[in-house]
Amino acid sequence: MRPLVIEHVSVRQLRNLAAVDLDFGPRFNVVSGDNGQGKTNLLEALYVLATSKSFRASRPGELVVHGGELGSVRGRVREGDLSREQSVGVRPGARLVRIDGKRPPSLAAYAVATPIVVFHPGEIALSMGGGSERRRLLDRVALYLEPSSMGELESFARALRERQKALEVRGVAASDLDQWEELVARHGVRVMATRRRAATELAREAERAFERIAAEGLVLRATYAPGAPEDESRFRDELASQRARDMRRGGAGAGPHRDDLSLTIGDHPVRGVASQGQHRAVVLALKAAEVEVVGAARDVRPVLLLDDVSSELDRGRTAALFAFLRAHEGQVFLTTTRPELIDTGPTAGPADRADFRVVSGVIGPG
Ligand SMILES: Nc1ncnc2c1ncn2[C@@H]1O[C@H](COP(=O)(O)OP(=O)(O)OP(=O)(O)O)[C@@H](O)[C@H]1O
Ligand SMILES: [Mg+2]
Repeated sequence: MRPLVIEHVSVRQLRNLAAVDLDFGPRFNVVSGDNGQGKTNLLEALYVLATSKSFRASRPGELVVHGGELGSVRGRVREGDLSREQSVGVRPGARLVRIDGKRPPSLAAYAVATPIVVFHPGEIALSMGGGSERRRLLDRVALYLEPSSMGELESFARALRERQKALEVRGVAASDLDQWEELVARHGVRVMATRRRAATELAREAERAFERIAAEGLVLRATYAPGAPEDESRFRDELASQRARDMRRGGAGAGPHRDDLSLTIGDHPVRGVASQGQHRAVVLALKAAEVEVVGAARDVRPVLLLDDVSSELDRGRTAALFAFLRAHEGQVFLTTTRPELIDTGPTAGPADRADFRVVSGVIGPG
């Protein structure tokens, strides 16, 4: 797989990063600092550069410095022998993306240009939480397998909202319901088809990764559990037959918004039976799978961002993580309050490991 390297970034007015200009190494970049200094903000800026979105804020305006109007991140990305400039400007309600000064055809086209995978402590919800974090995982992977999946998901969600509004305002006999249900089913089955592909690929890699990470003998199984019939006309029939129920409960009972990636260890659901350590092993396995599948889809080694993860892991799991990172051979960014504990293996110079230190949003050499 071709290497992918973020060589340089300039961040302006994002969170507490007023003006940051940095060159990075092609392998490990270790970002250290005390709590609340801006480590996660730097990873977030890199994630925004690569995808135009944050991994923790839902609205672009939250990313802009308090009291500011516009934030931006621009960067130089090298992929194999080619180099490109990417930039993302954010202000409340809007994002502006450019690749080599030009507007890409869509945000989805921008988001798949530079594959990146983030691993942060909140992702323990992948194993312990309800389905939403797992649906997001499926959608991140689906985007690389089928870039139109982002648009299909938006069209599905819009049609579902209109159907619900029609039900609640005009009741089960509203004349436009047929039309909305047709759209819900049409876009919904496409969303489910791509998620099923994503789930199948993720499952294969996650099961393999779990074998390496977890104690011997434990087997992880990941299976796509669709939230509605995957056949379009059956899905439409189901919607039509459940109008009264959906009106009463204020939402549709069937649809890909209820999808899940069901996880079991030794035939028992992970949620409910797994120990803390097993949950963490499951999350590591899923993230390793995301790296593999996304990388294979674009034939590059994704850039990896790890936010303070070793604080979440025990010694055995940390060793497994670093073994994975060293084998990955791509560019890795790690944040930590304790850089001396980050075992990047033997290093011959800044090409192997570059250290940075963050103090109050200002970043210098470590
Ligand atoms: N929109 C914003 N404008 C200005 N400052 C912000 C904004 N959003 C967050 N901050 C500030 O950024 C700082 C937190 O940065 P960050 O989350 O990167 O810390 P961290 O170094 O990762 O800390 P920890 O080790 O606790 O995770 C806080 O001081 C917070 O008040
Ligand atoms: Mg942090």
